[in-house]
Formats: sequence, structure tokens, C-alpha cells
Amino acid sequence: MTLTILDNVKLAAMSSGNGYDLVDDAMVIVESSRIRWAGPRADAPAVGGGAGRIDCDGRLLTPGLVDCHTHLVYAGNRAAEFEQRLEGASYAEIARAGGGIMSTVNATRNADDDILFAESLPRLARLMSEGVTTVEIKSGYGLDAANEIKMLRVARKLGAYTGARVRTTFLGAHALPPEYAGRADDYIDAVCNEMLPAAADAGLVDAVDAFCEGIAFSPEQVARVFDAAAARGLPVKCHAEQLSDLGGAAMSAKRGALSVDHLEYLSADDVGVLAAHGTIAVLLPGAYYVLRETQLPPMAAFREHGVPMALASDSNPGSSPVTSLLLTMNMACTLFRMTPAEALAGVTIHAARALGLAERIGSVEAGKSADLVLWDVDHPAELAVNLGLNPCAAVMAAGTWRETPYFA
Ligand code: NIG
Ligand code: FE
Repeated sequence: MTLTILDNVKLAAMSSGNGYDLVDDAMVIVESSRIRWAGPRADAPAVGGGAGRIDCDGRLLTPGLVDCHTHLVYAGNRAAEFEQRLEGASYAEIARAGGGIMSTVNATRNADDDILFAESLPRLARLMSEGVTTVEIKSGYGLDAANEIKMLRVARKLGAYTGARVRTTFLGAHALPPEYAGRADDYIDAVCNEMLPAAADAGLVDAVDAFCEGIAFSPEQVARVFDAAAARGLPVKCHAEQLSDLGGAAMSAKRGALSVDHLEYLSADDVGVLAAHGTIAVLLPGAYYVLRETQLPPMAAFREHGVPMALASDSNPGSSPVTSLLLTMNMACTLFRMTPAEALAGVTIHAARALGLAERIGSVEAGKSADLVLWDVDHPAELAVNLGLNPCAAVMAAGTWRETPYFA
């Protein structure tokens, strides 16, 4: 049994989901891979002489950050589309002309495991350098069984290599591949009857996602994918109401989705449906910023109904080429008027809930995994203030200090 005492910290425990749960003069006791005790120093239990004690010099201690929505495994880049958008083309127009997600599908299909791994590793490393200890990674740029499985396999390898806790999400219903042009229902049959079973049988699927949108799939088609997931006992989540209001979020909530993501065009009425079903709203300000969206998610209604708001990078080559959760926090505050406390809860406890992992991670509480970050800041609000400054001083993942280059 290894005991480590992190002494003299300012603790933002993030346990209530509402505010920082700040303890100024705190101590955290780690036993092997778990938190044994956390709280005010004055109340700390006595521990035996064998424990290692680290004086943290009053640094801020938070839970490890959780990026609960990424597409960070892909090949190639979409710089040419960035230029097209600057000249006035919209994201949807580029997608309808065969670019957008499909251009990344072509590059990803042509990349082998090693190339995909090498191109994706810097993105994960960059997230980790800012204290991310858990990251969700979606497929969705393969769009056939072999290539979706390749993406999920590479995502798992990235986790094994870096020590990040990686959760893999099957997103076969992300876009209609050209070989199914005009036959979206047949593609959904293939997703349900061939692709998802193959990926799940390979042990590579923690959850199932779909893109419910005019340029992707209807609520009815997504519901069929969710039925196939439910038949295998897999949790579901949905990209919904990003560009228009099709009712995908309410449909997903009624089917027990862990989260619904994007939500700029969600109606205030449907916020009540999320609340009634305990669904987490995952907000993605990077995509809002990059696409120069002007329609804000229904923030007031989320607060009024008590819908927990998570935040994620949505790291992807098109709508959100973002590999920073700190920048994401700043954008959520600046663009969506979240408070810094809401933003930190959004990348810790609520993000953990969006992954169904809140029993194990997302806050600094006895019994949870010792995923902890020390920051060179005086107050947690500072984490949301700076653009491009990384005050991460040290990261512990499951009780082990992380080595460079994953924090620097
Ligand atoms: O979350 N909305 C759909 N999927 C991604 C975009 C993927 C891409 O453009 O490559 C998103 O924004
Ligand atoms: Fe996304």
C-alpha cells in the first residue's frame, strides 16, 4: 500500500457540481490509485510514518480534466476548407459538395494504423499537457466496418501509450458515405446490423453516438441506431441541434442518452425533456466559434431547469480544430456567458457524468481515482481567463505522477 500526502493545497474539489467547493488550506491523501481522504488540513486523519508527504506550496489542486467529446483520431487536414469558408462558403455547403467530413473520411480510410496513430498523438498530448486525464474519442471518419474499427483501435492504442483514460465511442452514423448515396436507410441498416456489431464484438465500443442533422441523419434513423445500441446494452449520446432544430436531443433524452451535444438550436421546451430524463447538455464553444455561429445555446433555460452543462473541445479537423480545454473554458465564458465555476464543472464533474463515469472520476472525493492536477494559479477562475498560457504544474493519473512530455 502506497500512501502519498499532498499537503498545503488550495482544493477545488468540484464535488457538488455547483461551484468550486473550495477549501483554502487543504490536504489530499492518496492510497495507491485512489483518493483516500480530501478536506481541510485541520480535519485530516493521522496517517502512519510511511506516507510520502509533498508540500504543494499552496498551489491549486483540481480533479483531472475530462474532455468528453472529441474526434481527435483522423488523418489529413482541412486547411483548404478554412480558406473556402473565409471566402464565404458555409460548413453545410462544403459538406453537401462532398467536402467537410467526407474529405476527412477519404484521408482516414487511406491511412494505416501507424499513420493514424502518429498524426493523432500530438493532439492527445496537447490536451494532456493541460491536465486532461480522461478523453472520449469517437470514430466516424471510417464509415465502413474495417475503417471504423481501425479508428477505435488506434484510439485505444493512444490511451495505452500515453496513460490517458480513453473512452471510445462508435459514430458510424456521422455522415453518408458516397457508396450509399441516395440510400441513407440502407446505410443505417449497415450501421445497425454489420458495423456496430463488428466493432462491439471486437470489444472497442464504450458508447454509441450519431449526428442528427439535415446534412446527416434524421431522428428516426438515429433512433434505429440507438435501438441497436440498446440491444447490446451500450449507452448512447447524440450530436443534435447544431445547425437546425430537428428534435434529435429530445428523442435521445427519451431513449436515456447520457448526453446530447452542440444544442445551439435546441428549443427551450425541449430543455425540460433533458431535465426530466437526467440528460447532460454538452456544449462545444469551439465549433460555435469556428463556424461563426450566432445562435446561442439556451443557457438560461439550462440553468432554470437545472440541466448540468458539460464542456468539451470537439477536437476535429473541420468545425473545431481545438486541442485545448482551457481555451474551451475561456470560449464558454466569453461566448456563452458561462461563469468560470460553471466552466470548470463542465470539464470535470459534469463531463464525467456525460461519460457515465461520475462514480469514478470528475471530482476530488474519497474513493475516486486519484486523477489530480496542480496549477500555478491563485484562484480557479484564472483557469478560464488566459488564452494560450498553460499554468499546469503537475498531473497525477490514477495515483501516478505523469512524466513529460505529457505535461510541459
Ligand atoms: O461535432 N457535427 C458533426 N461532427 C463534428 C464535425 C466533424 C467535422 O467537421 O469533421 C462536430 O462538429
Ligand atoms: Fe462532434
